[in-house]
Amino acid sequence: MREKVILETQNLSKQFGGFVAVEKVNYKLFEGETAGIIGPNGAGKSTFFNLLTGLFPPTEGKILFFNQDITSTQAEHRVELGLVRTFQLVSVFDSLSVIDNLILAVTRFSPIFTNKFRFFFRDAHIKNITERAKEALNRVGLADKSHILTSELSYGDKRKLEIAMALALNPKVLLLDEPFAGLSDVEIKELLNLLHKVKKSLTLIIIEHKISRIVDLVTRLSVMHEGRIIAEGNPKDVLCNETVRRVYWGGESCSVDGITDSSDRRRRP
Ligand SMILES: Nc1ncnc2c1ncn2[C@@H]1O[C@H](COP(=O)(O)OP(=O)(O)OP(=O)(O)O)[C@@H](O)[C@H]1O
Ligand SMILES: [Mg+2]
Repeated sequence: MREKVILETQNLSKQFGGFVAVEKVNYKLFEGETAGIIGPNGAGKSTFFNLLTGLFPPTEGKILFFNQDITSTQAEHRVELGLVRTFQLVSVFDSLSVIDNLILAVTRFSPIFTNKFRFFFRDAHIKNITERAKEALNRVGLADKSHILTSELSYGDKRKLEIAMALALNPKVLLLDEPFAGLSDVEIKELLNLLHKVKKSLTLIIIEHKISRIVDLVTRLSVMHEGRIIAEGNPKDVLCNETVRRVYWGGESCSVDGITDSSDRRRRP
């Protein structure tokens, strides 16, 4: 069966003043795959996600989603189309309960609030929103914490909540920007288990700094360096790419067991 491209960028670039953060990226995402994007600090990974999700416009290039040109489409509308993301730093409301965070996320994109003519069906909509919120909490394993104040959750659980909020929006493609950042080893394992389940029913792109964390999770890996994609393919082949090893690992062995991840120069949240 031929693979279907559902998200594509053509010559996508972003300049901040004179600085080129993303440079002429031609990227393809295939339906059902779990794609990984790795690269050192400042490579342009988050900027690439910001362009895909409409946080700011590109300087040059095009974005196609299910063959529709969404380059100038508002961020909210991209969510409605099924392009949903999470952020590098967990973005949840600490002062709300877990379930209320979810209800708020779903409500924001619910037609009842964007179309006044649906007002008369309000009760049905509210029931539907609550059900979607509960179902998403179930999927990430937080159902028993639904009425806890979010500030009381561990960082790992907040990350799961953020993923539940994204799942509740019924994405066709879910973009995760460094979902493992700031998590303990135990939390990383739990999140990996969750993502192995989620990927069965969804197309995913995961940005990650440390390749060893995602090498068994992703089906295809792209490496970004100085705003460009310098290598792409099966994760294990990409690891053996000479350019990748030179810029990312300093020319060491390409065996997965022997990977030395590039160091992360940022402070953790
Ligand atoms: N809004 C902005 N204004 C100016 N420069 C920016 C902006 N956003 C990103 N940059 C710059 O673009 C470059 C790429 O940043 P980006 O955050 O995309 O990198 P990254 O690959 O996600 O890095 P990290 O692994 O540290 O998260 C960096 O040099 C950054 O300082
Ligand atoms: Mg980033």
